[in-house]
Amino acid sequence: MKFFIKTYGCQMNVRDTEAVRSLLQRHGHVAVASEDEADLVVVNTCSVRGKAEDKALGKLSLLVAGRRERPARIVGVIGCMAQRMGAGLLKRVPGLDFAVGTHRIASLPSVINLVREGRGPYADVAEEDADLDLLQGHADGAASAFVNILLGCDRFCAYCVVPHVRGRERSRPAADILAEIRALAARGVREVTLLGQSVMSYGRANAVWPDTHVSPMGLREPLPRLLEAASAIEGLARIRFTTGHPSGCTEELARAMAGLPAVCEHLHLPLQSGSDRILQRMRRGYSTDGYRHAAGRLRKAVPGLALTTDLIVGFPGETPEDFEATRQFCGEMEFDNAFIFKYSPRPNTPAAEWDDTVTAEEKLRRNKVLLADQDRQSLTLHAGLVGRVVEVLVEGVSLRNPHRWSGRTRTNKIVIFERAAAMNAGMLARVRIERVMAQTLYGTVAA
Ligand code: SAH
Ligand code: SF4
Ligand code: F3S
Repeated sequence: MKFFIKTYGCQMNVRDTEAVRSLLQRHGHVAVASEDEADLVVVNTCSVRGKAEDKALGKLSLLVAGRRERPARIVGVIGCMAQRMGAGLLKRVPGLDFAVGTHRIASLPSVINLVREGRGPYADVAEEDADLDLLQGHADGAASAFVNILLGCDRFCAYCVVPHVRGRERSRPAADILAEIRALAARGVREVTLLGQSVMSYGRANAVWPDTHVSPMGLREPLPRLLEAASAIEGLARIRFTTGHPSGCTEELARAMAGLPAVCEHLHLPLQSGSDRILQRMRRGYSTDGYRHAAGRLRKAVPGLALTTDLIVGFPGETPEDFEATRQFCGEMEFDNAFIFKYSPRPNTPAAEWDDTVTAEEKLRRNKVLLADQDRQSLTLHAGLVGRVVEVLVEGVSLRNPHRWSGRTRTNKIVIFERAAAMNAGMLARVRIERVMAQTLYGTVAA
């Protein structure tokens, strides 16, 4: 069948979509570039906020309504919302052909066959992983790739749906991950991002290294060892890992980041709130002081480390004083970038039982205030880059302007620059920064 996958949500979903695309192709299905051409449409969904679910529901309703004109088209749902709602989603949007949860996407080829035989609608949200080995496929020709290292999350932050839809922490064996990265590097991939919701918990719930493994740097912790082993893979220029948590910012991690040239000087370390009272209610497992120490340890070891973060405004009970504390603390941390979200109660999470005390207007106001703070902060940091030459991994032609290239610095900042003739995706370019905005740097190739 000709298929198209529409993706919502985080990098994990982006990765799942890519793996499913590759799996379906191996089963003889053909990926098409637009939804219009497809006779199988799969929507990969996110449940992290109410809005994310509303968007997917709207999309699914449209797709199902469109079947009046295309009765043979199959429309199915995968991802976190499929996991959360299961058969309920098939009832909610009548006409959907399947809902397959996060643990079961490897079984999609057989689900599609069932539906084609007229045995749908079909729901599978079992919490037992279908064969993960089937999910190692990657797209061709990319400069950069995501690699799963840790599935699920055991942290159970009070507001978060992820542990409920992605299940318990499972770490992939280091040997499997390294084999996947080696294959990627052999095909020309220059940068990998190791993925896990709380990636520093890699190797905590299950063993990932054989007892016989000896780390040349004398590292004992699973993630630093993985960074070290990945660094030795030929052809790979950059290694990233996300998402961080302060509890995982150990001396060993600092030593690995500082000592391994391929590991990039960037960490996404969600803060969520700068108020200790709110952090405690969120069950984040650290205080502002703990965060300060964690970030400080890495910054000291890794000069020029870029720190990005996530923040939630309007968490139940967040007072104007709590919010001010967040502004203050963000000012102190001088983040390179921040993603700011309005609190959204999620079913079956503890925080959903608490009064959603902050009004929608006030959440919006706080969101805008933090955004403006961050824009000023990012601009100030970026202004310091004007005139400097930075290393950029070329990712492709700029979407906005086909006469320009787009790429990223090691600190994960987007750079747009003039297209020099002999250049292609995957190359490392030296670019002189000439003009900056809060989210983007502009420049030209340096001689
Ligand atoms: N694993 C990562 C991120 C998971 S979800 C971490 O530990 O931080 C991405 C971001 O969405 C979170 O960092 C948080 O800022 C936000 N988020 C999660 N649940 C939310 C909710 N119920 N309402 C608003 N924002 C939420
Ligand atoms: Fe959610 Fe917390 Fe796990 Fe991140 S660490 S996915 S915020 S429960
Ligand atoms: Fe990611 Fe959304 Fe699921 S943030 S893990 S796609 S709930």
